[in-house]
Amino acid sequence: MSEGYEHRPVMLDEIVELFRPVPPGLIVDATVGGGGHARALLEALPQHRLLGLDRDEEALVAAHVTLAGFGNRVTLRRARFDRLKAMVNEGGEQNVTAVLFDVGVSSPQVDHADRGFSYSQDAPLDMRMDRSQSLTAADVVNTYPAARLTQVLHDYGDERFAGRIANAIVATRPLNSTSELVDVIRDAIPAPARRRGGHPAKRTFQALRIEVNNELDVLGPALDQAIDVLVPGGRCAVLAYHSGEDRIVKDRFREAETGGCVCPPGLPCVCGATPKVRLLRRGARKPSAAETASNPRAESARLRAVEKLDAVDAA
Ligand SMILES: C[S@@+](CC[C@H](N)C(=O)[O-])C[C@H]1O[C@@H](n2cnc3c(N)ncnc32)[C@H](O)[C@@H]1O
Repeated sequence: MSEGYEHRPVMLDEIVELFRPVPPGLIVDATVGGGGHARALLEALPQHRLLGLDRDEEALVAAHVTLAGFGNRVTLRRARFDRLKAMVNEGGEQNVTAVLFDVGVSSPQVDHADRGFSYSQDAPLDMRMDRSQSLTAADVVNTYPAARLTQVLHDYGDERFAGRIANAIVATRPLNSTSELVDVIRDAIPAPARRRGGHPAKRTFQALRIEVNNELDVLGPALDQAIDVLVPGGRCAVLAYHSGEDRIVKDRFREAETGGCVCPPGLPCVCGATPKVRLLRRGARKPSAAETASNPRAESARLRAVEKLDAVDAA
């Protein structure tokens, strides 16, 4: 791992085992971060090459360092993962045998105070993974109407006091720093609730981060592209850390498993749907107790995976 970029890859052994059976070819790491998963995969699968994508320039700099020893087996590109298919095509690649998504934020994004993701360090309200995009957390906090802010905090943060917090933000703004925002949130939450359920700003910060980076909207299309580019026998695995993300993964995988079949359950399919994948396991897998004890940030991880079918299996 490169110096100054400390991120422990989550469910690393499980990811390596999931991809071990795939045919030699290209692994796409759609969220390469500092290259922790990528390095383990390149070591375990010596006949594979890897295309690593990330929207965060700092992550790519770290990945370059981590993966330098693998030479031309590795290509790194700055791209949002809903451009996955275009990035694969750009490299002229037709043999994609594995795609990994480890969505959400990396530890350095949270820990480097100047990124503005953390409620425990004072910084400008930023939260952009891609610092070349224009929308920042300050724009969301200072320009969204109260109703839209309430919706964001409710939908992306599961915040019970979304309305109170949104109204307090609107009454106090402009807000320029994370600590100003934390103070407003703390004052808006009733005292008894403030003492329960962790840091009072945790859910609001998560919601703002998801909104700023448009995290949920790009995931579904990216998963469809991943399934499209895989060769038969290729696998796609996703680590999600938020119930909204995990629901999207579950729904997209189920849609690909049934081929979008609309026939009544229990009756033979007559609608002509063709399944694209098989689920490698029903339900999501969680990290072990030992992993969450040593890395609490892994706790909310949910792993789902599918394998692409060939035309005969699908029929
Ligand atoms: C949890 S970290 C990945 C860590 C990585 N697996 C490792 O082992 O170092 C998530 C990474 O995904 C990136 N990311 C999140 N959403 C993205 C998107 N829509 N497109 C591209 N990269 C994204 C973030 O910038 C971050 O670097």
